Amino acid sequence: MTILDGNKISNDIKDEIAKEVSLMVANGEKTPHLAAVLVGTDGASMTYVNAKVKACEKIGFNSTLIDLPEDTTEEVLLEKISELNTNDDIDGFIVQLPLPKHIDEQKVLMAIDPDKDVDGFHPTNVGKMALDLPTFLPATPYGIIELLERYNIETSGKNVVVMGRSHIVGRPMSILMSQKRKAGDATVTVVHSRTKNLDEITKKADIIVAAIGISEFLTGDMVKEGVVIIDVGITRVPDETKQRGYRLAGDVHFESVSKKASYITPVPGGVGPMTIAMLLKNTLLARERHRG
Ligand code: GUN
Repeated sequence: MTILDGNKISNDIKDEIAKEVSLMVANGEKTPHLAAVLVGTDGASMTYVNAKVKACEKIGFNSTLIDLPEDTTEEVLLEKISELNTNDDIDGFIVQLPLPKHIDEQKVLMAIDPDKDVDGFHPTNVGKMALDLPTFLPATPYGIIELLERYNIETSGKNVVVMGRSHIVGRPMSILMSQKRKAGDATVTVVHSRTKNLDEITKKADIIVAAIGISEFLTGDMVKEGVVIIDVGITRVPDETKQRGYRLAGDVHFESVSKKASYITPVPGGVGPMTIAMLLKNTLLARERHRG
């Protein structure tokens, strides 16, 4: 069993980007600049956004964190997005999800200029992704593709089961894996909360991408020997033995599944750091595109 080391691969990618940035800057070009908008004080969202901003500093990008209170109105948020759309110094920006319930998420995502939408969530970019046209690929699926590629995991003709149909992970992942690409050409099945005989399907999978948001849902008895496991889940599970009062768990029961897997991502240290690396890659791409 091989651990798919997202920390290592993401550091490799960040090193590659840092080299490109120093070349750009040495050539007198503008430094790439990512902005992140956070609304409210959700603990996990704050952790993710801070990690994104810190990663920018580490590789030589400029970054701006726009921290808005929980009771921010949709109107004020849309105004902020409009400012970011027109600010030439900002190459790309993200609005961290989920948003507070009183804000229409779809309306917000649609207000982002597709050329600055480094999360790849705008319908224009989702459409381009589905049609295999050049665009910003959503960071988590992009990170998974990159991880599979860099470990030379064969996907062509394999049975891939994507667990979950979210707009951020499951849906784009299923589209990308079915396309003609190095980590693609797979036969993809999407399973979700209404799927019947789930374990009959997961047992036939050569590769499983678990993105359902239920901690330790996928157990060893649901998979076959040699399966490749990508665990997208990250949930805080109460744990009194830990000083912070919780531990992080994935959607996969690591102990039982890892006994049968040929490759598996850990949580933390698997998909999470890859997501951040690919967001930076998209920001570099945005800068290169704005250069014209
Ligand atoms: N919330 C969970 N994942 C993501 C992501 O990739 N981007 C944004 N903006 N919000 C998220």
